[in-house]
Amino acid sequence: MSAGRALTVEVLLDEGDLRATMRAEVAEGLTATPKWISPVWFYDEEGSRLFEEITQLEEYYPTRTERALLTAHAGNIASLAAADTLVELGAGALEKSRLLLDAMVAEGRLRRYVPFDVSETFLVAAAGELSAEYQELEVVAVVGDFHRHLDLVPAGGNRLIAFLGGTIGNLIPAERRVFFDQVRAMIGPGDSFLIGTDLVKDRARIVAAYNDAAGITAEFNRNALRVLNARLGADFVPEHFEHVALWNEAECWIEMRLRSTCDQVVRVADLELEVSFAEGEELLTEISAKFTPEGIAAELASAGLRVRETYGRAEGQFLLSFATTD
Ligand code: SAH
Ligand code: TRP
Repeated sequence: MSAGRALTVEVLLDEGDLRATMRAEVAEGLTATPKWISPVWFYDEEGSRLFEEITQLEEYYPTRTERALLTAHAGNIASLAAADTLVELGAGALEKSRLLLDAMVAEGRLRRYVPFDVSETFLVAAAGELSAEYQELEVVAVVGDFHRHLDLVPAGGNRLIAFLGGTIGNLIPAERRVFFDQVRAMIGPGDSFLIGTDLVKDRARIVAAYNDAAGITAEFNRNALRVLNARLGADFVPEHFEHVALWNEAECWIEMRLRSTCDQVVRVADLELEVSFAEGEELLTEISAKFTPEGIAAELASAGLRVRETYGRAEGQFLLSFATTD
């Protein structure tokens, strides 16, 4: 398929800047107790591909559930938003995006789509395909970090800002506050915000979604080590770490960890760092927080974002919240 007429790519992540951030964060995380690494490093091209596989797993209910909600309610969302631009943060494979786009096209005002993601190759490929399918749409793919670049998202028109996939749950509460404040700062009158959050539910079901029988989530988790090997000259042996997913009741989140299966020393050449792991020692890689409808509404409200409508509350599995500033 040929590329659509109007695809542009804006790269806000400068390679040098990215390296500097990565070096600083990895040095900090690997020398901390307990050790941690930032989840941003999951999403190289292979990571994005593995995440796509996760979304198709039987155990991984969030994608399927959110897709069903969008299928049922995209028309209503589109009419509430009355937007000419869809901005999508952490857009990924742009699969569910099509449901929103189709409803917004039908609503009659849509002219621009701005998918925003940190995973450059993956985003550019997905945006190219989408642009070919939606010939009338101006597609502006933005490669950036939503912790740092929200102020650079293209402005103008009436925008619906969507943040799907429950990705907000991958931020710790302090990061969520900053993130919502930044979203609030980017939206004006006539703009709106749609956020997908996974809901608190039966604990076994949640744990299974992050510990699938086929081991894809485990591969995804270990891929973060491969990224560190490739980018920082580290010599992690991924097979010497096993995937752990456990429910933290107090924090209401799933914790993903990598547990060292032996006593080992890992060298990170570019940081001139040697890190020892004792057998059984765990490296924290990711959290995935689960919410209640009231909890997420309260967090949005404290950033000045008022929830106008929710979808999925009755079913209690996954929630879409639609918010505006006024
Ligand atoms: N929205 C998609 C993808 C969710 S996975 C869905 O619902 O299926 C999370 C996505 O967020 C990935 O595509 C990842 O590359 C992106 N992402 C993670 N951290 C990011 C960051 N700091 N800035 C921008 N995008 C990020
Ligand atoms: N946003 C996804 C979620 O929280 C990301 C995710 C799914 C993930 N499975 C994972 C992150 C496994 C790390 C490891 O559901």
